[in-house]
Amino acid sequence: MALPPARILGIETSCDETAAAVISNGRVIESNVVASQVDLHAQYGGVFPELASREHVKAIYPIVNEALRQAYVDISEIDAIAVTQGPGLAGSLVVGVNMAKGLSLVAEKPLIGINHLEGHIYSAWLHPADVTPPQPPRFPLLALLVSGGHSELILMTDHLAYQRLGGTLDDAAGEALDKVARLLDLPYPGGPSIQKASTSGKETAFSFPKAMLEGSWDFSFSGVKTAVLRAVEALQAEGRPLPIEDLAASFQAAVVDVLVEKTLLAAQKYKVREIIVAGGVSANKRLREKILAESKYPVHIPPLALCTDNAAMIAAAGYFHFIKEDFSPFDIDVLPNWPLSFSH
Ligand code: KG4
Ligand code: ZN
Repeated sequence: MALPPARILGIETSCDETAAAVISNGRVIESNVVASQVDLHAQYGGVFPELASREHVKAIYPIVNEALRQAYVDISEIDAIAVTQGPGLAGSLVVGVNMAKGLSLVAEKPLIGINHLEGHIYSAWLHPADVTPPQPPRFPLLALLVSGGHSELILMTDHLAYQRLGGTLDDAAGEALDKVARLLDLPYPGGPSIQKASTSGKETAFSFPKAMLEGSWDFSFSGVKTAVLRAVEALQAEGRPLPIEDLAASFQAAVVDVLVEKTLLAAQKYKVREIIVAGGVSANKRLREKILAESKYPVHIPPLALCTDNAAMIAAAGYFHFIKEDFSPFDIDVLPNWPLSFSH
């Protein structure tokens, strides 16, 4: 069944990226503009919330204009405005939501508040404008959502219908990578730094615990994080130099192996047709290679630019709400702790 055409403007300001994008029909990237604050926050070793919201205020207007300009459209040619309503940093979310409300009011376009996690999942539907559209993901599917704030396994039986099978009981995968990177004196953000250091390290140098938590679809990464800390302390007590690359490689392997093994077990148990891997940690090379090599199900992993925070994914999710006329009232507020609903 052909879906109705629509062009959605997406806005994302949940953390340290100010982003806007124009997406048609939930899939085609007409523009995708991201202003990252990562260099600014790197000096603090993590996101500094007050600084993040101030930067969003400065960047939001030019970024939205640039997204419209690059798509060669005027706001009047947009069918709806989708914006990340949560989860995320309250002071950052509010900048995007207020911008979206202003545009919605002035241009008389519907407003759609999007869950950031839902956005990450919908990054799997996106493709550039100049390619033959690839096959979209097919239901039922399993989404492994791994980011700085979340590590979740989600079963989707249809568009916008989510069943959370499990999630992290402590640190998110990205959070654990960021914390261990800090411990090893590697620059923020930690995920890419750990990946880089790992390339010249030996995965088998250290045997870090892999918490499989059998019998549940939950994850736990605090044990492996503490194990790295203990190994570092033991080496330091002996006055030995830290084998940073070996520590990074062994830790990365422990995290990735658990993510991949549990995802494949859940895919089998729930008899899904396909798998989606999304969120910032899905940019990880070892994770991508391992799941693609070991899965007997087709795996959708977005290209690197769509793994980390962007507004294209928010507009893609917005489209599927738009076609159901699932609009948000004008008085929506930000939802910093919004979980992905069980179903819509
Ligand atoms: O989705 P995202 O951009 O923001 C959140 O919604 O949290 O994810 C950010 C997380 C950070 O923890 C970062 O270290 C991690 O994604 N990350 C990576 C890689 N690139 C980003 N982790 C592992 N390998 C990477 N290449
Ligand atoms: Zn994210």
